[in-house]
Amino acid sequence: MQYRPLGPSGLSVSEISFGCMSLGEDHAQNARLLHEAYDLGINLFDTADLYQRGFNEESVGRAFAGRRDQVLIATKVGNQWRPDGTGWDWNPRKAYILRAVEDSLRRLRTDYIDLYQLHGGTLDDPIDETIEAFEQLKAAGKIRHYGISSIRPNVVQTWLRRAGLVSVMSQYSLLDRRPEEQIMPMLAEAGIGLLVRGGVAKGLLAGKPAAGYLEHEAPAVARVQGALATLGGDPAAWALRYALDAPAVATVVAGIRTGAQLRANVAASQLPPLTPVQRQQLDDVIPPLVYTQHRV
Ligand SMILES: NC(=O)c1ccc[n+]([C@@H]2O[C@H](COP(=O)([O-])OP(=O)(O)OC[C@H]3O[C@@H](n4cnc5c(N)ncnc54)[C@H](OP(=O)(O)O)[C@@H]3O)[C@@H](O)[C@H]2O)c1
Repeated sequence: MQYRPLGPSGLSVSEISFGCMSLGEDHAQNARLLHEAYDLGINLFDTADLYQRGFNEESVGRAFAGRRDQVLIATKVGNQWRPDGTGWDWNPRKAYILRAVEDSLRRLRTDYIDLYQLHGGTLDDPIDETIEAFEQLKAAGKIRHYGISSIRPNVVQTWLRRAGLVSVMSQYSLLDRRPEEQIMPMLAEAGIGLLVRGGVAKGLLAGKPAAGYLEHEAPAVARVQGALATLGGDPAAWALRYALDAPAVATVVAGIRTGAQLRANVAASQLPPLTPVQRQQLDDVIPPLVYTQHRV
């Protein structure tokens, strides 16, 4: 496994990190998969208070209780579950974040979070208040760093201008190249790390039957699958390699449900970078999507 700096954080993160959203309903099974990932060199585990209504954080906390100092835990805040469990509401207010972090810390069985991310965001949010909460938690040692998860260029730009964040999480793959136009250049210039999610497009770039994805129709997705296959070996690893080679990328947060997926995805870090010709050949297969909303 190769490692990269996470923006200005001073942290070194594995090129492939573990997206915990795909974990199952059994703590013991989840722990086995998380431990195998750790043994393969993965050091960053990305969860959220939203996932499985806290159960996901609990799984991560149980798995790493005995080796907390050897892993980096990223979690997210901003989606507040309704008491009756029927869903959640957006809440980026300071008072809520200061409460929610305590629940995450308890579930994660730790007294600090390495990377605390705002789980979305709009320009209408009380951004200064959110940043105040993050800075306060940092000063108290409850979080080491903070970032935002957003696919909106205008939100990312606003955060880059105001806050001491170290990372942005966004969706990026051969099937979703929208960050290339505005988000990646902004992050590269600011020296902020991009955490890529959706690198195998929910498995479409990893052997699942072709289906529509965003504005791409199934036949276009099948063409991309064919282009990845010409590289030889496992398409999942090449799909993740494609994301790893893009500007500003610190890590690809790969959603992992099984041991086979874990091993296939980790292999991306062992592949050589795509040559410019190989990359161009992949890019030529379908036109890139661009954001039509929330542009800067
Ligand atoms: N807004 C946000 O902040 C946000 C949103 C989404 C995700 N995330 C984070 O990003 C992570 C990844 O996102 P994602 O799950 O949307 O995208 P993803 O990594 O593209 O998709 C993960 C899914 O793809 C399939 N898969 C993965 N590797 C595979 C392989 N080698 N072969 C075949 N299938 C494979 C699995 O599907 P099956 O389970 O069907 O097998 C897996 O559940 C999440 O775990 C989470 O940590 C954050």
